[in-house]
Amino acid sequence: MRTLIFDTDIGVDDAFALAYAARTQRLLGITTVFGNVAVGQATKNARLFCEKIAIRVPVFRGCSRPLALAPSAPAKLHGEDGLGDVFENPYSDQAPGAVQFIIDSVRAQPHEITLVAIGPLTNIASAINQAPDIVSLVKEVVIMGGAFGTGGHSGNVTPFSEFNMWKDPHAADQVLSSALPIVLIPLDVTHKVLIRQEEVQQLNQPVLSAICQPYLAYSLAKEGFAGMALHDTLTLSWLCIPDAFTLAESPLRVITEGIASGQTVRKRSALASREDAFHGLPAQRIALDVDAEAVRTHFFSTLGAG
Ligand code: BDR
Ligand code: CA
Repeated sequence: MRTLIFDTDIGVDDAFALAYAARTQRLLGITTVFGNVAVGQATKNARLFCEKIAIRVPVFRGCSRPLALAPSAPAKLHGEDGLGDVFENPYSDQAPGAVQFIIDSVRAQPHEITLVAIGPLTNIASAINQAPDIVSLVKEVVIMGGAFGTGGHSGNVTPFSEFNMWKDPHAADQVLSSALPIVLIPLDVTHKVLIRQEEVQQLNQPVLSAICQPYLAYSLAKEGFAGMALHDTLTLSWLCIPDAFTLAESPLRVITEGIASGQTVRKRSALASREDAFHGLPAQRIALDVDAEAVRTHFFSTLGAG
């Protein structure tokens, strides 16, 4: 069991991941960020979802916009409110600052804290910009994001880019090229782990079934599949059953401009050139294959009892 800071733009698959984390890890705090919804809505959602699954975890409000890009509209596939538009949400959108919470927590518990980042990486980039000393004090950063083309999965917003990277490519580039100990969980593996509509019902988790209806409708309309990829939950799968994943190791960058903005790229060959954009960067771990049945089995056995 790890001590986690759970960094999220909480939409539907983020909520599934939070439910999974609550049963398998020690949650120190939830930090919110813009992405699937605006940061204020994410802050309200984090509090509401904690109430719905009966956990008490402090919530911190993070960044409201990307480091350098103009803000873009929230995604709509998680519903207007990010949690399927099924619950009244009476909670405040105000909370103490997420970036300071990350910095203070990592300094207070050196080498003990795992960051799970399942939205745009703006809070994490801001934390390491403000406090570079924390880079060597974080135990691990497990990130859902990026795409490397395995099985044709090279992007889900543009042909090149995955949503979390695309939303704030400058933050993503800073984090992925830093010396933080990273495990990246890209679309290459998250698209292999699918849950069918009837399996969501069988989980016997009424809150999860309720919130995912617009997401399932979107998936059926767009992809002809009555189910959904479990994207963000795979960060927890990595923490629970790492042997289910096949990793590659290479330095990483993220494209920040042009038609490929948000594209994750990894160094594939040695290049003795001063123009090498990966020069001097540490190798990071990237999940490129997964035992989908092992991940599904662990997920269902953890959440299935209701
Ligand atoms: C990512 O995009 C978001 O919509 C999901 O919550 C997930 O974090 C998948 O590309
Ligand atoms: Ca997310």
